[in-house]
Amino acid sequence: MTTNNKRKGIILAGGNGSRLYPLTKVISKQLLPVFDKPMIHYPLATLMTADIKDILVISTPKDISAYKALLGDGGLWGINISYKIQPSPDGLAQAFILAEDFIDNDLSALILGDNIFYGPDFSDVLRKASNNKEATIFAYHVDEAERYGVVEFADKKVVSIEEKPENPKSNFAITGLYFYDNEVIELAKSLKPSARGELEITDLNRIYMEKNKLNIEILNKNYAWFDSGTHESLLKASIYVGDFQKRYNLKISCIEEIAYKNSWISKNELLILAKKIHNKYYREYLEALID
Ligand code: TTP
Repeated sequence: MTTNNKRKGIILAGGNGSRLYPLTKVISKQLLPVFDKPMIHYPLATLMTADIKDILVISTPKDISAYKALLGDGGLWGINISYKIQPSPDGLAQAFILAEDFIDNDLSALILGDNIFYGPDFSDVLRKASNNKEATIFAYHVDEAERYGVVEFADKKVVSIEEKPENPKSNFAITGLYFYDNEVIELAKSLKPSARGELEITDLNRIYMEKNKLNIEILNKNYAWFDSGTHESLLKASIYVGDFQKRYNLKISCIEEIAYKNSWISKNELLILAKKIHNKYYREYLEALID
């Protein structure tokens, strides 16, 4: 089978959201607000920044219709969004089994629906990693590494991965953004459920590491990374976005802006989009992009 060079993106927006209970009792976690946007806009913006136009949103049987109502087919932003149900939250690596038909012969990227990234020249970092046909994970320096998947590396190659280790070998956490080749589908199918009954992304990454095909990009301290799955991190993410946007008069992860800057929508299409927005500040921000 020949692999094409195009990369398709998957957003995992299912899960239990149990740490955010009772917020998530009736609302799916990735629909909760992060300052001025639904959480899923942020990972969507990250994929768009990586120049990925074909996107599959995976969510629960209960919540998938809400994501369809929010994002539609993506045509408003010049992208293609399709949807797939994950019957139960059986692990992150299951995404590639569910996405088999969607990925087809192409390369893939997975982003967790609660992961928020922002930083300078992010599109260069993402596009460079995307052009690499091997796998890439993205790491971020954290204080309490024992709470995360921890990666040790040398010369941009991963040498060890440990899940929530007691004595971490580094202070770099693995973030919820992963680039893989096409083989990921078959490798995901070969995984056995872990002790907690999930197909683990860590096991997938370990296979790539053992093949010496797992590269790492370090997101330095000029970047912000939030996994907004707890009340505290959700609040921190909202405060960061609100403060930053006010201070610099910029929007973080504005999907209309990214679509326009990627030339996926025309000036006219942006203006039509803006006109439909009732929020004066949002509308004026989009209109100002054209001036
Ligand atoms: P987690 O934060 O690990 O799990 P969760 O969202 O169910 O939350 P909690 O631990 O509080 O119960 O999941 C990370 C992201 O991946 C999140 O956006 C939900 C998504 N996810 C799925 O879509 N399917 C899955 O099978 C799993 C495990 C997670």
